[in-house]
Parts: sequence; structure tokens; C-alpha cells
Amino acid sequence: MTDRYGRSRAQHERARRHLAGGVATAYRAPQRPVPISFASGSGSRLTDIDGNGYVDYALAFGPMLLGHSPDAVLRAVHEQLATGIGYGACHRVEAELAEAVCRTVPCADLCVFSSTGSEAVHAALRIARAATGRNRVVKFLGHFHGWLDPLAIGIPGLKDAGPATAGQDPLASSAVTVCPWNDLDALRAALSDDVAAVIMEPLAVNGGCLSAAPGYLSQVRQLTEQAGALLIFDEVITGFRLALGGAQERLGILPDLAVLGKAMGAGFPISAVCGRRDVMEEVASGRVKHVGTFNANPVCATAALAAISELEQRADEHYPRLEELGGTLADIFRTEATEAGVPLVVNQLGGMGHAFCSAAPVESHDDTLGADADAYGKFAEALLDEGVHVISRGLLYVSTVHDDADLEQTRGAVARAAATAAARRAEPTSPGRHAAVARR
Ligand SMILES: Cc1ncc(COP(=O)(O)O)c(C=O)c1O
Repeated sequence: MTDRYGRSRAQHERARRHLAGGVATAYRAPQRPVPISFASGSGSRLTDIDGNGYVDYALAFGPMLLGHSPDAVLRAVHEQLATGIGYGACHRVEAELAEAVCRTVPCADLCVFSSTGSEAVHAALRIARAATGRNRVVKFLGHFHGWLDPLAIGIPGLKDAGPATAGQDPLASSAVTVCPWNDLDALRAALSDDVAAVIMEPLAVNGGCLSAAPGYLSQVRQLTEQAGALLIFDEVITGFRLALGGAQERLGILPDLAVLGKAMGAGFPISAVCGRRDVMEEVASGRVKHVGTFNANPVCATAALAAISELEQRADEHYPRLEELGGTLADIFRTEATEAGVPLVVNQLGGMGHAFCSAAPVESHDDTLGADADAYGKFAEALLDEGVHVISRGLLYVSTVHDDADLEQTRGAVARAAATAAARRAEPTSPGRHAAVARR
């Protein structure tokens, strides 16, 4: 029998010889039966190096909001490439991009650019500390803010506020308090007078696409104001995805600072911190040093400007469509999988969702820990065999270019994959991999 993933397996073996673990990011390792190597992506589809085609709902862990290789972005980037890759100096596009961010994101009067979400989160904390003259930060259990030490504690999949990885500096997070989310009393207790900022994913996408309880965000807004702490929305996922102006626009709560990444660059590495003028003045005045060789690199800035322009010009079309696609996809996963013997819960808002193998609703961090991560891993593997690519721990993303044909193909694939996964459930599993799935 031919091995459907033979070339990916060989590629992974080759990579492992000199690329630690054979993957460039630990979160790619849990993919089964092997981390797939891709040859190309176009629109809603990916093709792997074995020639297998997939409808893609992983979208590079979120950034490909306009699909793979979107024309508008490629055209702009090609033009930019012809005139220079990087100057390490000022250029026209960075100012236009800053204007676009401040025009579209409600809290943004001023912004700065970095390359990744983790970096931008780090910059936001620095700005908040400088602006308040305080040191402590409050984050929430089950929220994810990137890989850097201070906030890489209490991430999704962890029971408590422990570290995400070996090698973390415990001192880096010694001034971080981890609170349960959706618990106002716990937040009140955590808001001591040395708290510089409260940071959260306003929709807890990484931890299960969990929504804030009714009234919770406005109460948090009030409590932070009363405590003299800044409110930071980490909109690395929700920015430009949940609405043009992100979760803050969709949910109607204005943070002091917001962090953007992923979809903003349509696949190019660029991120931003934006916010209230008086707070961002810390950077403008030079008091806070914000640096980075690649900050607002012209190629990435051009991609981001093209992406935001496309989203802005066709917002009336794109955002209702993302909502519709996201809703239909969630429905397909829920109904087809459950009917075929894999009970699935899907939490979804707009163009993103999180699926869990669970017979009961998943509405809190504790609920997510009770879901069957191993069963979802098996289902994701079976989906791959059926030509549907998803993130093996449950996140689901749609792009503006997914279409009805994709969804119909997905419907059949989900039903067949769920039947296969139900049959595989009795098989023994490799513990190392599943621990990794459960962690992320
Ligand atoms: C909400 C959130 N914040 C920050 C980050 C870190 O972004 P990056 O991986 O670009 O460093 C991520 C990455 O998944 C994220 O989901």
C-alpha cells in the first residue's frame, strides 16, 4: 500500500537530523501521523509535498485571513520587492500603515510595529509599566500571549499558573498574577496598587474560544480604571478577524492598549502595539525605547497595508461572510461528527472557533481540561486523510475566500473522519505526543 504521507515522513526524518525536533515551532510537532510538509497554498487550499490537497482551516495558525497567497497582497509585495527589501530606515509605507491601524482600530491614536505577537506583547507591557510607574501585571488562566517568559505561565492546557516550558526564568514572571477569567472577585483581589496592567484575550480564543460573561468586560474596564491600571487587549488573533476594529469594536469595550499581529500581515511577520495617545506618548517621547532591526520592514509593512486596505474597502462583505462561514463550519463539525460517534462541541465567534471532543458544553478553563484532547487528535488525523487540514488541538479558522464548495467537501470529510476516529478510539496512543497536544 502506498504511504499517503511518504514524502512528508522522509522530509521530517531529514529535517530532524539538523533542525531540532524536525519542526521550527514546537506547536507543529503534535500533528499526526507526521508533521506535514507543504508545497503550496492558494486561496482556501493547501497542497503537501506528496501531492495531497486539503481544505485548510488552520490558516498558518490564523494569519491567512485573506486565504493563501491573496492577489492584492502579492501584487503590492512584488512591487515593494523590486524597490528594496529593507532599509533599516524610515519609509513611506510605515506611516501609511500606522494611519490605517489608527483609522481602523478604535483604541488606536498612536502605534508602534514589531515582527511577532510575542514581541509586541512584551512592548505593550513595557509601555504600561512606564506609563503607570508600576510593575505588576495581571493575566488570566488559559489565556495565551506568546512564548516569552513573563507571560508564558498559566497557558491553555495547564491546570494552574505554572510555566509553559522547561528553561523558563521564574523571576521573569515573579511580578505576574494569574487570575481565573470571568471572576470579578478574583480580579478585585488581584488589583493591588502596584498593578500596571491587566492583559487578556478579549475573546479567549487559544483557551477554547471562550466568551466573556455578560457584563464582565465592562466591569473589568471599570475596575482597572478605578485601580489606576491599564487594560491591554491582546488582539493578536481577534485583530482584523473578529471585526475590522477587532474584538474591541465587536464587543464595544475600549482598552488602553491593544496588541495586533497574525491577520494584520496576511502571513508576513508584522505586529503592532497601539493605544491611547497619552500612554503611547511614552514611546513617542523616547522615554520607552522600542527597538527592533526588522520593525516595520518595508516588505511586511506593505503586505499589512495591502491586507488592511482590502479588509477596509470590503468590510461590509468580508465580515458578514466570515460570520456565516464560521457559523456553518462550526455547525458541520458539531452535527456531522456527533452523528458519526465523536461528540464535538464547537465554540465559535466570527471567523474563528475551537472544537473539543466533549459531550458537555465547554464554557470555562476547567471545562477545557475535561475535554478529550487525545480523541480530538485522532479526529484531526482522520480529517487529514479526508483532505481537511486543522490544528490538532482544536482551533478552527476560516478565511474570506473559503466557499460553499469547501464547506460541502468538509461536511462529507467530517462525517467520514469522525467514523474513522470513533473506530480508532480503542487503539493505544503514544503518550509524548498527546501530552504536547494537551498543553497547547
Ligand atoms: C493571543 C496571542 N497573543 C500572542 C501570540 C504570540 O504571537 P507570535 O506567535 O506571533 O509571537 C499569539 C500566538 O499564537 C496569540 O495567539
